[in-house]
Order: sequence, then structure tokens, then C-alpha cells
Amino acid sequence: MNVDQTPAAADSWRRLPAAQQPAWPDPDALRAVTDEIESYPPLVFAGECDELRDQLAAVARGEAFVLQGGDCAETFDGVTADQVRDKIKTLLQMSAVLTYATGVPVVKVGRIAGQYSKPRSQPTEIRDGVELPTYRGDSVNGLAFTPEARRPDPERLKRMYHSSSATLNLIRAFATGGYADLRQVHEWNRDFVAGSPIGERYERLARDIDDALSFLEACGADPKQFHSSAIFASHEALLLDYEAALTRTDLRTGSPYAVSGHLLWIGERTRQLDGAHVEYASKVRNPIAVKLGPTTTPDDVLALIDRLDPDREPGRLSFITRMGKDRILDVLPELVEKVTAAGAQVAWICDPMHGNTFSAPSGHKTRHFDDVLAEVRGFFDVHHALGTHPGGIHIELTGDNVTECVGGGDEVLVGDLHRRYETACDPRLNRFQSLDLAFQVAELYRERPLTSGFARQPVAA
Ligand code: PEP
Ligand code: CO
Repeated sequence: MNVDQTPAAADSWRRLPAAQQPAWPDPDALRAVTDEIESYPPLVFAGECDELRDQLAAVARGEAFVLQGGDCAETFDGVTADQVRDKIKTLLQMSAVLTYATGVPVVKVGRIAGQYSKPRSQPTEIRDGVELPTYRGDSVNGLAFTPEARRPDPERLKRMYHSSSATLNLIRAFATGGYADLRQVHEWNRDFVAGSPIGERYERLARDIDDALSFLEACGADPKQFHSSAIFASHEALLLDYEAALTRTDLRTGSPYAVSGHLLWIGERTRQLDGAHVEYASKVRNPIAVKLGPTTTPDDVLALIDRLDPDREPGRLSFITRMGKDRILDVLPELVEKVTAAGAQVAWICDPMHGNTFSAPSGHKTRHFDDVLAEVRGFFDVHHALGTHPGGIHIELTGDNVTECVGGGDEVLVGDLHRRYETACDPRLNRFQSLDLAFQVAELYRERPLTSGFARQPVAA
């Protein structure tokens, strides 16, 4: 093993304000748990994080595309072979379509194996006059609206570790054990096209992929990449006591790494420049992403680059923009222009989910497929106009046929939402909507093909 015990760098955040931390009722109990977690083996290895950083560097250079996706909030009950398999299957299917359409490698990153903690807009929730702490993810408390379930319980941090470990074990098996074979993945896509009401629309793309695979087979090409696929794990680095307990020094390089997941991101609510989350992330060598909402200023972004990527190392820093479909065209161009002018090479990723949430009359929090697609289109348009690279998409999705987002080719109506509304937090695209999105994004790409060696300087408007 090439990782050592928790380094001091993991603790510098403690002197700064940390937003969105649970009010743990018993600090000694929390301490006992984090001491125990410090003795656990790493969930991921430094070398794997470096591999992801290299792949994201290709994205930052315009030579690869990222697909990041998974639940808004994973749950302990959701750690079943079937559910994890179906999420991986959906990611692999989307990735096959996107690889063909973009003509560049697709970096596959799950919101998975650690995505158990949620920032909330309110600390408490009131129902029928009863006020209780809000649900902050399975790592903190339970979703049921009872005082017992909602009380933060640090023992849950151990369960988060073990659930992440079981999930990673399944992912590693699916990624290399034949499940990720490209022919197999393409067969599933063929089934999707044949069985979907708007499948005809995607028939041509599926046939083109068939032809490409047959051609390669006829040539005798059978590279190992056709039989397995690297899938990386990411989550929001929210609970800093947990992250600190899972920080280790890499003995090869002497650098600290978060070993709770390959890529960690900082959320829109915790990206304060003088806050604890940015401080923690600045100390670890993993690839880091930061969510950027519509109020982000160019100064914020430039300061984040100075804090998190002082060496301007491609692959180190990604920005996940979540502006909303109505704001993206106004807000994104200036941010991209200023970052480009500052000489930073970041990966730009579009999260078309978090700026497009609304409440249906039934009270369900939902998103419309068309709004999601509209934000992705805006993202492509902005990058196309500036000559920069639209580096990827970040999606809340599941492999199940839930009814949480409305619209899509196999349309979910507002009146259907109650049928299978299963998310513990935000509404996810179901399996069908996710594949539909991948095909639509593929079409967007084909309309605006990637030019290799795209212009680094912004083009005049
Ligand atoms: C999320 O990704 O689930 C999330 C809370 O996003 P944001 O920080 O962008 O609001
Ligand atoms: Co969410």
C-alpha cells in the first residue's frame, strides 16, 4: 500500500468557517467515529486520482469529453447490485453514444460511492406545525419526518464509508468483468432505439455505430478498451470531518490525497473563498470541481483558480456551471472569456439540472427535460461562439424508470409524478430520459463539430 496516515494538511480548514455542517449533538461521539474512520483503508488510490486528473487534462485541452452522472443523493438502501448495475449501465450507454458523436474519449465519472451528504437551503423543515431538522443525506440523518430519524447521528459516517466501499467494489467488477464490453453496451442501445417511441429518430446514429463496429471487427481490431471501461467516483466534499478522516499522504509523492473518492466537488453553497471547503480542497492533490451558479462573478472565478489551481495545471480544476436555461447565455460568456484570458486551462462542465428546478402543482420538486436540454444547448452555443471547448455534462440520473422529471421522448406528465417519485432529494432523469438526452447531445455535437486545436483566445463577438 502506498498511502500513509492522515496528514496535518487535512486539518487547516478547521480554523475557518465551514458552511452547511450538521449540528452533531455529541462532539465526543463524532470524534470517536472520525478516529475510527482514520484507521480504515483508503477507498480509492492516489494513482487512480492521478489517472483521472490526466483524463480531465485532455478535457481541458479540448481532446476529451466528460460524462458525470448519478443520484442527487445516494441512499444506504440503494446500495444493491441491481441499482448500482443499472446506473452504471445507463452511464455506459450514454457514453457509447457520446464517444461516437464527439469522436473523442468520454471520461466517465459517477456521482456515486460517496454522494451521501446534502447542503440544504433551510436548517429546519416544518410540517403540520412540527419543526424538525432538514434531511442532510443518509450520512447525517434519516429522511423520515420523525425526531429520531432527523437527529444527526455520526455512526452514519461509518455506514457511508462501508456503503461507498460496497458500491466501488461493484463498479470495479462491472467495469472490468465483461459488463462494459462495447458490443454489449451497443446492443443495449439498439434495444433502446428499437423499443422507444421516438427511437426512429436515433436509428441512423445507432446504425452508424453498428457500421463502425463491424468495420473494426472486419479489420481484426479488438483493443482492450472495447472490453472494459474506467469509471471514476465523485461526490460533493461537504462533510469536512469525514473528508479529513479519509485524507492520506501518498508515499510515492508525499502529497495529501482525499481517498474518499477520485474527484471531489465543492457545491454552490460552500464555495466561499475564505471558507473551510475551499481551504480543504486546496490541500489535496485530487482533481477538484467547483459548482458555479448564476450569481458567480469573474472575480470569484479567477480567485478560485488562484486558490485551487495556482500552478495552472490542466485537469486539476473543473468548473461545473449550473446557471439555469434563462441565465446561461447572459452569465457564462464573460466567465469563460476571463478565465481563458487569464491563461487557466480548466474543464468546463454543464450541470443543466440545478438551475432548472420548479415545483409542480402536486408539490413535487421537478425539472422539465426540455429545460435541461435548453441549458445544454446554451452551453454549447456559448463555447462555440468563443471557440472554447464544451467539456462535458453533469446529470442527476438513475437507471430506474422513475417519474421525477417531466417531459422526454417517452413523456412523463406532471400528473405522473406521484407514480414513482423515489428520490431522497432532487428529481433525476430516469433511464429513458438519460438515454434520450445522450442522443440529443450527440445531435448537438454533430451540428457543432469539435475542431481539434480549437482557438484558445476568445473570438471577437
Ligand atoms: C447537487 O449537485 O446536488 C447540488 C446540491 O448542487 P449545487 O451545489 O450546484 O446546488
Ligand atoms: Co441535486
